[in-house]
Amino acid sequence: MDHVDVKRLFFEHFSSLKHKKLPDVPLIPPEHDTSSLFINSGMQPLKPLFMGLQKPPASRLYNSQKCVRTGDIDDVGDNKHLTFFFMLGNWSIGDYGVTEAAQFAYDLLVKKYGMNKNKLWATVFKGDKKLGLGRDDNMFAAWQKIGIPRERIFLADAEEVFWVSGKTGPCGPTSEMHYDFGASKGCGKKSCNPTCDCGRFMEIWNPCVQISYNRNAAGKLTSLKLKSIDAGAGFERIVGVLQGTNDVFTTTIFKPLIQQIEKLSSKNYTHNKKAMRIVADHVRASTFIAGEGVTPARKDQGYVLRRIIRRMVRYSKQLGIDRSGIKQLVRFVIDDFKKEYPYLQRNSKQIAGIIGNEYDNFNKTLEKGSRLLAQLMQTTKGKTLRGVDVFHLYDTYGFPMELTRELAAEKGFKIDENGYEREFAKHREVSKKGQSKKFVSGLADHSEMVIKYHTVNHMLLSALQKVLGPKVTQKGSNLTAERLRFDFNWGEKMTPEQLKKSEDIVNKWIKQDVPVTMEEMSVADAKKAGAQGVFTHKYGAKVKVYTIKGISKEICLGPHVNKTGVLGQFKIVKEKSSSAGVRRIKAVLE
Ligand code: ALA
Repeated sequence: MDHVDVKRLFFEHFSSLKHKKLPDVPLIPPEHDTSSLFINSGMQPLKPLFMGLQKPPASRLYNSQKCVRTGDIDDVGDNKHLTFFFMLGNWSIGDYGVTEAAQFAYDLLVKKYGMNKNKLWATVFKGDKKLGLGRDDNMFAAWQKIGIPRERIFLADAEEVFWVSGKTGPCGPTSEMHYDFGASKGCGKKSCNPTCDCGRFMEIWNPCVQISYNRNAAGKLTSLKLKSIDAGAGFERIVGVLQGTNDVFTTTIFKPLIQQIEKLSSKNYTHNKKAMRIVADHVRASTFIAGEGVTPARKDQGYVLRRIIRRMVRYSKQLGIDRSGIKQLVRFVIDDFKKEYPYLQRNSKQIAGIIGNEYDNFNKTLEKGSRLLAQLMQTTKGKTLRGVDVFHLYDTYGFPMELTRELAAEKGFKIDENGYEREFAKHREVSKKGQSKKFVSGLADHSEMVIKYHTVNHMLLSALQKVLGPKVTQKGSNLTAERLRFDFNWGEKMTPEQLKKSEDIVNKWIKQDVPVTMEEMSVADAKKAGAQGVFTHKYGAKVKVYTIKGISKEICLGPHVNKTGVLGQFKIVKEKSSSAGVRRIKAVLE
């Protein structure tokens, strides 16, 4: 079965079961969701729905969501790990329970896809004392009723089957479906079971996450009012099973790309699996990440992109693929996906530019850095590289630590990761400060001027929405006693007229001396009242809503001035690009 049909049948199946389709959201989570750098599962954007903070568009939902899992970068190269993949998801928001969810998944796999039911195994949560939860007998019975015999149901522990969406947030016990490729494909041990990583089993679906709890920072679970189901299937893996392979890179999804890599390198996949898999996965990941305007950087998403591009470059060099070859591969990925994701085509020049630039940057230092690394290994007594040297390679030659680790391991060396972390700590401190500023609106400084800038920040957002349209949202802000810096989503340079108009509107509002009031309410009420903000679990039970009468209503920590008249004269001093699709305004109060 072709992968296009696999996706189509998934959509048809859940649509016929009265589920409503959700859009596939961008990879970069909204600013308020700091739980991960990239969307890493279909449920992530739906957390506010599970928490009962937002009304779902329907109680049954489904979609296909592009995801990036940064934890898996170093695993890419084997038969099944991907940093970039698609998750086919379906959800019950306080609607059906595990019995139905399991049946829905089984029916699609066995009846519609025609998967061999005798090869299907299920794992079931065996309970956990620390979590205070018992064995999931309900789930066990559901699988037996559906037709999975006792001997193919494996009781697994919390580490395997208690699913958490992040360190905190919605979570619950789950049950996974695994495909058995047969004992000959695995370790052959008697104890081999679906949680064994030997290659015999492939997890293909996580159809029954019982989102019944919310986990707080201390790890404590509280029951959620809504009892929901989160389900996610790995698209590439299901396609693999249906096409009779446990190597996702030989499916129809990857075959054309792998063939292109074979052509460009004049090498054969069979003899160059690891390198070709890495190039194939990383070129998809970097194209999609750069497609959202991320540029390589020293932290956050930019750092991940840098790691992925550099790892791809290294392995493509090994295969004999040069810069223009990479460019062709990027083009290939864009062509492959442009119908479904037209923004890739729209941003194609920018994507090629970002990846090409990073290629050049890395190239410049690669030789020197590699030489230095070789020297280091020669002069190091023992087989462990010092953290300070590894940090130097990172800092001066742009060698991500993970890359040094990989290169060193090829020669039997380890690196002193603790030492490296210590060296890195200073930088991390700086970047941490940057982070918290980003997320708490820079309110560490509560001086009078900063408070003024804070209020005018809200007014500027409203003015921009008037001038440029209601879709404008804040992408970041940074306030000091001297100025405000405001980032917002907008694709092009603002015209002098638009800037003047925005400035005039803010000044008009200042002159009107409008009162600023604050009310505490629940997130749901804030939303009802039309407050801007991001409705997620990050907010406590009660939030502060600041209203500048007739001008703005926003969820905000405050503080603010009492009346706009005290703000003085507002002046925009600069407008420039911040990153792709994001503009930055610098403004002052005089
Ligand atoms: N959210 C669940 C997962 O990612 C379905 O496995």
